[in-house]
Parts: sequence; structure tokens; C-alpha cells
Amino acid sequence: MTSRIIGTGSCLPDTVVTNDFLSTIMDTSDEWIASRTGIRERHLVKEETTASLSIEAARRALAEAGVEPEELDMIVVGTLTGDHITPSTACEVQAGLGAVNAVAFDINAACAGFIFGLHTVNAYIRSGMCRLALVIGAESLSRIMDWSDRSTCVLFGDGAGAAVIRAQENGLMAYDQGSDGEKGKYLACPNRTNNNPLVQTDKILAYTKMDGQEVYKFAVSYVPASIQKVLEEAGIAPSDVKYYLLHQANLRIIQSVAKRLKLSQDKFPISLDHCGNVSAASVPILLDEVNRKGLLEKGDKIILSGFGGGLTWGTCLMEW
Ligand code: COA
Repeated sequence: MTSRIIGTGSCLPDTVVTNDFLSTIMDTSDEWIASRTGIRERHLVKEETTASLSIEAARRALAEAGVEPEELDMIVVGTLTGDHITPSTACEVQAGLGAVNAVAFDINAACAGFIFGLHTVNAYIRSGMCRLALVIGAESLSRIMDWSDRSTCVLFGDGAGAAVIRAQENGLMAYDQGSDGEKGKYLACPNRTNNNPLVQTDKILAYTKMDGQEVYKFAVSYVPASIQKVLEEAGIAPSDVKYYLLHQANLRIIQSVAKRLKLSQDKFPISLDHCGNVSAASVPILLDEVNRKGLLEKGDKIILSGFGGGLTWGTCLMEW
């Protein structure tokens, strides 16, 4: 028994923020951002929350799958920007949907969060503990950016993507995942303050700091290696995969992965131009866009791959 995706959905906040707008509030330009990253605009939350985006993305995925919320056994949300420390975003989604029979919890694996969620659900499915699940990647990253740090804040956006997963004979074919905590310092958001009466600490602000070049080096070496591992395990040639749906961090990273695998750029769909980097939400938003454009046919093989904070990475090969 394995996991098959039977419906996808996504939801982006209403407000679009262009590079040109950013250049009116900080020292940057459309030319600098677009030429280094491929990003032209991103959606940022105003009234929306991580939970509200997740619930809407989930409703759309359930509608496509023809599944009622009460049928769900599990809800797993990959996020590093849940609206509260507790309850989890997954529990808020459960309440919002009325998925009364689902066990619900979040996974924090940063930009690999959706993939880790998928692999976790797959493990539950293989053990017989789950039959029908919802996996979501959702973020409100704009809340944890330092908007005076132009080297980081211009890269990220907000949004949510969801997939309904059913236990079936065909679907997830092979996977790889890993973590390298030694490199965690290269992409970090230290936002916990100790408020107990025994310790006096300076207030630590909740913003994200990144060593862009170290993260870039990590991505262009670990991601192709992870993809190759999965392809070898499944005995599949790189050209047999229809699409490679990679975490949307930077166009140059995606181009480098395509080059390493000796594949045409056409096999790597892009959403970062209009979404920016949405961390855990990047892969499911892209998957939903590709699905809704009618680009996937039954039996197609696709690779999903996420990588980022932790540092973490995860890749899986799926039959559609
Ligand atoms: N607008 C204009 N100039 C900017 C800028 C911005 N938004 N951000 C940084 N700069 C400036 C820097 O201050 C620096 O100026 P200086 O040379 O006068 O000091 C110059 O541009 C080059 O900065 P640098 O950080 O060396 O740029 P870079 O070529 O490494 O590109 C990234 C920066 C972030 C685009 C690149 O490192 C990257 O994409 N890394 C991967 C990050 C990533 O994808 N993270 C998420 C993974 S989940």
C-alpha cells in the first residue's frame, strides 16, 4: 500500500506586492531582485492568517478529490509560521473544515515541510493507521521578516497549498529525506524569549536571518543528489519524469539542478515569479497550478522536492 494524490488546492492572499512597490519602501529594484532570483511579485497577508489560507486551500483540494471533511483520518500541516504556538494550524484546519474524525498536527521542517508531511502520512498509510489524509503546506512568512533587511525580505511570500492523499496500490514510488542541523545557523529565525522568573534575557526579535550564499551552495549540491537517489531507487531515468516540482526559492537554483541532471528547463515548472519563496507552501502551490492547468495525466511520473531551513531536504517520486 502507498499514497496517491487525488486532489489539490491552493490559496494566495489577495494583496500582490511587486518588486517595483518594494523599491519604493527600501533600497532595491525590480532589476536586482528579478535578475538574481526570478521573483517579480509575491502575495502578502493582511487580513488572512496561516489557518485561513490553509482552510481555503484544503476546501479546494477536497472538492477536487470529491472527499467530505468527515472522511479524513489525518490532517498534517507543514509550516514554520503557524498563527499560534498552540493550537496547531492543523487543529485549526480540522475545526474550520469540521473534519471531526481526523487526527491533526503540524510539522516544522521549513521549506521541506510539505514533503515531510507527505512522507509522514505515507508511513501512517503503510502501517495501516490511516486511509485518507490532507497534507498542507502553509506560511505567513511576511510576519517573520526583518523588513529593513533587503537581502532577505524581498525573497519571501505568503500562501497555502493542499493535497488529499488516499491509500492505494500506486502513487508514491520512492522517497528521500534528511536533515543537517550543523548548517541550521545559515537560515534561522530565533524568536523565543525566556520569560520565566529565573532568567533575564534580552528580548530576541522574531525575524529571519539568512546567509544566502551558504544556503545556495547547500541547495545546488544536496537537491540534485537527493533527486538522483530517488530515481536510482525507483530504477527510473531522469527523462522518464514528466515534471520536477522543486521548492521555489530561486530560479538560479532550479536552473542549476536542471543542468546537473542534464534536463531541459521545460521539465521544471515555475511559480516563484508570482509567489516568491513560500517555504512549505511552495511545492503544493506549484503542484496545484500544474494540476489545474491540465498538465498531468494518469500514470505521469513527477518528482516533488523541498529544501531549506533546518537545514532539511526531502524528495519523492509520485505516479499521478
Ligand atoms: N536589492 C539591491 N541590492 C541588494 C539586495 C536587494 N534586495 N540585497 C542585497 N543587495 C546587495 C548587497 O548589499 C550586496 O551589496 P555590496 O556588494 O555593495 O555589499 C550585493 O547586493 C550582493 O549581495 P549578495 O548577498 O552577495 O548577493 P548574492 O549574489 O549572493 O545574491 C541571494 C543574494 C539571496 C539572491 C542569493 O545568495 C541566493 O539566492 N541565495 C539562496 C537563498 C535562498 O534561496 N534561500 C531560501 C532557501 S529555502
